[in-house]
Amino acid sequence: MESALFPEGLTVEDSHSYFDGVELETLAHEYGTPLYVVSETIIRRRCEELRRSFLERYPGTRAYYASKAFQTLDMLRIIRDEGLGVDVVSGGELYAALRAGVDPSAIIFHGNAKTDHELKMAVEAGVGRIAVDNLEEVYRIEREAARVGTKQTILFRVTPGVDSHTHRFISTGSLDSKFGIPLEPAETARYVQALRACHHVEFAGLHFHIGSQLLENTSHLAALRIVLRFAARLAKEFGLDVRELNMGGGYGIRYLPEDKAPALSEFVAPLMAMVHAWSAEEGLPIPACAIEPGRWIVGEAGLTLYQVIAVKEIPGIRTYVAVDGGMGDNIRPALYDAHYHAAIVGRIRGQRCAVESDEAVASGRSPRIVTIAGRYCESGDILVRDVSLPDPQPGDILALFSTGAYCFAMASNYNRVPRPALVMLKDGAARLSVRRQTYEDLCSGEQ
Ligand code: LLP
Repeated sequence: MESALFPEGLTVEDSHSYFDGVELETLAHEYGTPLYVVSETIIRRRCEELRRSFLERYPGTRAYYASKAFQTLDMLRIIRDEGLGVDVVSGGELYAALRAGVDPSAIIFHGNAKTDHELKMAVEAGVGRIAVDNLEEVYRIEREAARVGTKQTILFRVTPGVDSHTHRFISTGSLDSKFGIPLEPAETARYVQALRACHHVEFAGLHFHIGSQLLENTSHLAALRIVLRFAARLAKEFGLDVRELNMGGGYGIRYLPEDKAPALSEFVAPLMAMVHAWSAEEGLPIPACAIEPGRWIVGEAGLTLYQVIAVKEIPGIRTYVAVDGGMGDNIRPALYDAHYHAAIVGRIRGQRCAVESDEAVASGRSPRIVTIAGRYCESGDILVRDVSLPDPQPGDILALFSTGAYCFAMASNYNRVPRPALVMLKDGAARLSVRRQTYEDLCSGEQ
């Protein structure tokens, strides 16, 4: 029964919809809408697959969860428990990771504009790796590490100059990118010189990340080829060993039922084969390889529940189904033209329904092509364009699928709308992981 439905974890029994064994209508009643719903079971299943197809298959490898995709203390504890490291990109993410008990040595700190305060925090905490994004940063880390009296391990994040086939806002590997160090000979010499001058900085290797939501492995492979060539040059021209190679994240997921996303092994197996072949050809040791998936771990584990507030038909043009959330809880359609799949999964009790009875939710209504509009004061706040739903009515509960990554994490309080609550599901039970913001929360901090 489960296999026929999208996403994984969704089941329907007697017209009731369940995710990870928990009834969605009940969740909407108990916690209100909009509501982020995240399946711990699916997250842990992904971690298991990651171990099976990467960590256990290739000894000496590591995986860091790119926590920018979805960071809560609860999630960080799951990741810690699963034995993965954590990628953080700000003082706030680092603070939360440390607070959740993540071992500092399992943390990699990223960012193209790390502040002095953040570098101080990272070095003092003893984070395992800092991914350096610009030349000045090497000297800034040196100063901080010298002050603390430690040696800070770093990687160089490089820009391989590869265009990835994804939205330009989430593509990062091309030459004209604000991220990473360009692989120019003159630049390289300056970085090597910096390493020689800095005795509190320990160079471990290279990092690249070329973009997000990639559904083919070709860009990763093209980038790796370039980075490996560069690694050989560092070894031969400068005697600099690339002991570690972090290949970033970007592994795509399914947003629509018709989407096909490759298994993680389809990305990592050819990447690892290329690293091994390179090592044999160049006579250089195999670097310790790492990956940094974010979306792939959590994206399909989440869904968002909304309540339909109004249905407006513009004759001959379009029918708008307005829900009680939108770009404040999910900016992705407005920002990246992202596509989502939606379904009606229940009704708010006591709401009058223009069609038949409450039992008719999934069955007795005929499907219509509608556009799901958010509640925010922006014409661009459209969650899904042209989706077929069974004659939606005010009071229906609508689920938007695959919202586990970059939705909660990118939420805003635009229009002073409180951020939704977030529940985690496991073993057929729900627990409140983040409570809904109150109006008072929204005024807190204001003088
Ligand atoms: N490593 C680095 C250095 C990154 O910059 C990122 C994502 C990742 C790993 C994880 O990428 P993932 O496996 O999640 O694709 N807000 C956008 C995505 C931005 C990705 C930023 N960097 C979205 O909603 O699509």
